[in-house]
Amino acid sequence: MEKLVITGGNALHGTVPISGAKNAALPLMCASLLSDEPLTLENLPRLADITTLTDLLNHLGVTVTIEGGKGGRMTGRNLTFDAKNINDTVAPYDIVRKMRASILVLGPLVARAGEAIVSLPGGCAIGNRPIDLHLKALEKLGAKIDVEQGYVRASAPEGLKGGRVRFPFVSVGATENILMAASLAKGTTIIENAAREPEIADLAACLNAMGARIKDAGHETITVEGVDRLHGATHAVMPDRIEAGSYAVAALMTRGDLLLEGARADDMQATLDTLADAGGIVSVEEDGVRIKSNGHVKGFNLVTQPFPGFATDMQAQFMALACVAEGASVITEAIFENRFMHVSELCRLGADITVTGSSATVRGARFLKGAPVMATDLRASMGLALAGLVAEGETHVNRLYHLDRGYERLEEKLRAVGANVDRVPG
Ligand code: UD1
Repeated sequence: MEKLVITGGNALHGTVPISGAKNAALPLMCASLLSDEPLTLENLPRLADITTLTDLLNHLGVTVTIEGGKGGRMTGRNLTFDAKNINDTVAPYDIVRKMRASILVLGPLVARAGEAIVSLPGGCAIGNRPIDLHLKALEKLGAKIDVEQGYVRASAPEGLKGGRVRFPFVSVGATENILMAASLAKGTTIIENAAREPEIADLAACLNAMGARIKDAGHETITVEGVDRLHGATHAVMPDRIEAGSYAVAALMTRGDLLLEGARADDMQATLDTLADAGGIVSVEEDGVRIKSNGHVKGFNLVTQPFPGFATDMQAQFMALACVAEGASVITEAIFENRFMHVSELCRLGADITVTGSSATVRGARFLKGAPVMATDLRASMGLALAGLVAEGETHVNRLYHLDRGYERLEEKLRAVGANVDRVPG
């Protein structure tokens, strides 16, 4: 196992190239299952989650070829996914347990092959995370769903039929699953209370490029007119708004100045607004978003919400920022239960945080001191790494595999803008 060793104190200055978005890439890769022609995805980040899903797609019969890319070490690659022959419809536990997003093969598989048997993803560090919304929505499209021995079996031997799906609350993954399934259903599907995350619009753009007829993705109500078949296409993965937001926090925390190259302000407005509340100077430039410190960080309040609200995937990073702010901050987590596991680790670095229910009060202006810390999930790990960038002395972030799931070439990108970071055997 490897760990990250960070010696805090350096202000970060320069340009950080933003990778393709992990959370867009995963559903896009699953979309390849919908067609017997190849789908080329440009700018796929090199991440452990991408490898895990590639393994799963391989297992189902998809052939994957690397088509090159821009060539830089810090930029993604172009991969082609060819699902001409689907020779297995079972997504086994051994792969699914590594990554919950594997559930995204369910909709495309049942739509294309008439059957899908997918292991239940099980619990995870940031809460219970059920998949009931995915299953109910597929039932609305005529799939027969059975749950047996830890597996979900969805079948629709005669094909799916369009229907009206109204989600009781917003789910990104369930919206994506149903969007893909409905693309090949007979007739029209109306999805109400759909997630509006930019990754949904990115998926719909790719599906439409493959011949789907999707209207209003990115809005609360999406209309999908089913088609008989989808064809091949080439699609560039959108920039990662969570990676960009994480580096933006690094700029402000270290009293630095970073250009987030390729980041799109519209995708991360709530993050940028909260950075401005905390005293950051944000500017939108031709080639990305710049975030600069004015020398001070002020306390701020935030509540996580579905898009366009403040992203839950940015909560841990802003908690780290709050630790060094002048004044108190209140951070409320309204999407996932149990997403405060970074609190006790931040306290080990000297933070002063009290959690009451789903809210954390962070008393700022803390002098953080390096210590060994344990990463618990992907974004929590980034919160700890950010704290390490300003803590005095060395911070060791153990369980680096969490960060490798979602941050492409983290230590290289940080080092290039002045951080003192190393990856060492743990
Ligand atoms: C996606 C993101 C994840 C992000 C989350 C919320 C990917 C690969 N992952 O996860 O990084 O943190 O959106 O922005 O894109 N829920 C149910 N039943 C369901 C589905 C969800 O109760 O069937 C609940 C969840 O437990 C959670 C809430 O709904 O409390 C939102 O989850 P959801 O939007 O589905 O998250 P994911 O798609 O899993």
